[in-house]
Order: sequence, then C-alpha cells, then structure tokens
Amino acid sequence: MKSDDIADYLSQVYHKRVTVTGTGKLGEIDVGLKEFGYGKPLLIRFSADGEDKTAVLSSMRTEGGFGHDHFSDRAQIMIWQHSTFNKLPKHVESIDVGYFTGDGKLKSAGGAEEYFVLMEEVKGTEYFYDLERISESNATEQDVGRAQALADYLAVIHANHSDDSELYVRRIRDMVGHGECIMGLMDSYPSNLDFITDKELNEIEKRCVDWRWKLKSGTDRLCMVHGDYHPWNVMFRDGTDFTVLDRSRGEWGEAADDVSGMTINYLFYSLIKDGKLDGGFKKVYDRFMDHYLAETEDWDILKVIPLFYAFRGLVVASPVWYPNLDREIRVKLFNFIRNILSEEEFDYRNVNSYFSG
Ligand SMILES: Nc1ncnc2c1ncn2[C@@H]1O[C@H](COP(=O)(O)OP(=O)(O)O)[C@@H](O)[C@H]1O
Ligand SMILES: [Mg+2]
Repeated sequence: MKSDDIADYLSQVYHKRVTVTGTGKLGEIDVGLKEFGYGKPLLIRFSADGEDKTAVLSSMRTEGGFGHDHFSDRAQIMIWQHSTFNKLPKHVESIDVGYFTGDGKLKSAGGAEEYFVLMEEVKGTEYFYDLERISESNATEQDVGRAQALADYLAVIHANHSDDSELYVRRIRDMVGHGECIMGLMDSYPSNLDFITDKELNEIEKRCVDWRWKLKSGTDRLCMVHGDYHPWNVMFRDGTDFTVLDRSRGEWGEAADDVSGMTINYLFYSLIKDGKLDGGFKKVYDRFMDHYLAETEDWDILKVIPLFYAFRGLVVASPVWYPNLDREIRVKLFNFIRNILSEEEFDYRNVNSYFSG
C-alpha cells in the first residue's frame, strides 16, 4: 500500500489536504497468550491541512477459514463493523469503510445503504413452467431432452475441481448451519404444525449434524457448483438452449447440492400429481439421474446426497415457501427426509420406498 494512495483516500474522507508521515503495524508485538487474530490493523500518522492526526486502518487476513474464505465474507464483516461500532457506548469510533482496488487504490464505500447486482436481461421461460405443463399432461421427448441437457450441464461444471479443502468443509458446515440452509429452514418452520413437531425437527437436525461429520472430510469432492440449481433459476429458449440465474453460497462446493436442487422438483411435482414418483416426472427424473451418473461415473454422490435431499425436502415441505400443500404430501416429504438420512446410500431407482412412514 503506497503512502500516496493512502493520502488520496484520507483527503476524500477528511476533505482536507493530507500528507502521510508514517505507518506501523499494530497488535503484533508481544500479544501475550492470544496468538491469533482475524484483523491486520495498520496505524497511519498523517497531517491534515497541517494538523497532525492518526487513524487505524483495519482489514482482514485473506487466508480463509472461520467462514472468512471469500472476499465477500470479509466485506460483510467490515460493512457490519462500520454500521455498528458507533452505536455502542465506550466503543472506538468508525470513520469510514472502504475497499482496496486491484491497483492498490483505497475507495470509500461508506455511503452504501443497500447493495445490488446489475445483470443482463435473460430471454426465455422459467423451467418450472415445463413442470407445470407436465403436471397437466405428460412428458414429451423435448422434456426428456431438457432433463438430459440439465444433467449434462452439471456433469460439465462439476468436472472442474479445486484443492482448497477449507471450502468443502465450509460448504458442508453451511449446508447444516447457514441461515439459508437446514438450520435456517428449521427456524423458519412455525410451531404447532399438524404434520411435524419441533421435537421431530430437532431429531432430523441432529442426524444432519452427524451427516456433517461423516461428509466434511470428503474434500477431494470439491468442485465448481451453481449452488441453487432449481427450475426457478433456469430459463429455457428453443429446445435445450438455456441460461442459469442466481448462483448462491460459493463458487466451489458439493455436486450433490446441484443434483438434489433440481431433481427434488421432479419428485415434488410427481408427489402432488400422483402421490408418488410416476409417469412423466419419473421419465425426466430417471433420464436426469441416469445421464448424470453415466457422464460423471460419480457413484459416490449417492452416499453424499441424503444430507442435500434433506435440505431440499425441508424447502418444499415448508409452509412458508409452499403454503398450499396437502398435509399428506408434507407427511410423505418428511418420511422421505427421515428415511434418506437413515441410509448409508441413496437408492435412486427405488425413490418411492422413501415416501412411506
Ligand atoms: N437477468 C434476468 N433476466 C430475466 N429474468 C430474470 C433475471 N433475473 C431474475 N429474473 C427473474 O426473476 C426471478 C427471481 O430472480 P432471482 O435472481 O432468481 O431471485 P431470487 O433470489 O428471488 O430467487 C427469476 O426466477 C426470473 O424469473
Ligand atoms: Mg432465484
């Protein structure tokens, strides 16, 4: 970090002519018992319109771990610190939050109230409309072709692996403990439901924790993922031409997350239509699974997918996400969740056996 770049930035923050007179690392000399810290505080000495001042610029270590793996994780913590430090009595004042650019400049982000993403508009139709149509009639050759294309896409992206094992451990941890995943879903379930009790949810959650300990050492499975691969995040144009939207929760993860994210919907729609996996939805489900497994030869995915199907099951059985479902469908979905978590390996050719109590 060059002094001139620091001076440019501080001039904007203080609206004064700033000259940096010195910098020094803080909190690194004789720290006593505590040997580790997340932050890297830097003391800056400067003069502002001739007045001597100091300030501390704190950024985070980028080594990862502790959920600080992504630059966005670290940004989240910095943005949070800036928005809360000044609300606590006797707490050091935060002056600004900002970011370093690739060429070493310092930019303020202190004016941000809410972030947004600007993206291209995608032409096409959301894939769930296909499932709505299959519910009314049957699966066409194109529907089977589209299921194969969706499986093929995953086989291609999942072939990219990473050895950043910390990210796999995190992905499995997030699958159980993240607000958008199993524990978050559990907490979004209202109490006093007529199809599941808090005690039963607690039991399921405990099993998911056991699954986490079984899976998190499988770091060699870390691969490129979409992260929220479902029919509302895929837009089809003619034939098998499609675009995906809304990637979530990290670039690298577990392939079973994507496979379960899409295929749970074939099971779900079929349950609503026929009370079991059958007809057109069985055709597209079998084609998806058979093609994915043939292309990847990743048979171990069947030993990992139960945890991810449990999550996806909690989503589709949720009275928050899907308020208008028959009680019987929800009961079958929780049978599916419990049964799949109690087996070492998912038998995808006998899905219907999982829906009974
Ligand atoms: N770039 C885009 N082009 C066309 N439609 C879009 C685009 N982004 C989102 N949509 C539409 O908005 C819906 C919700 O957007 P999404 O990013 O998936 O948000 P959410 O987090 O609510 O799922 C999508 O299912 C799609 O119908
Ligand atoms: Mg979406």
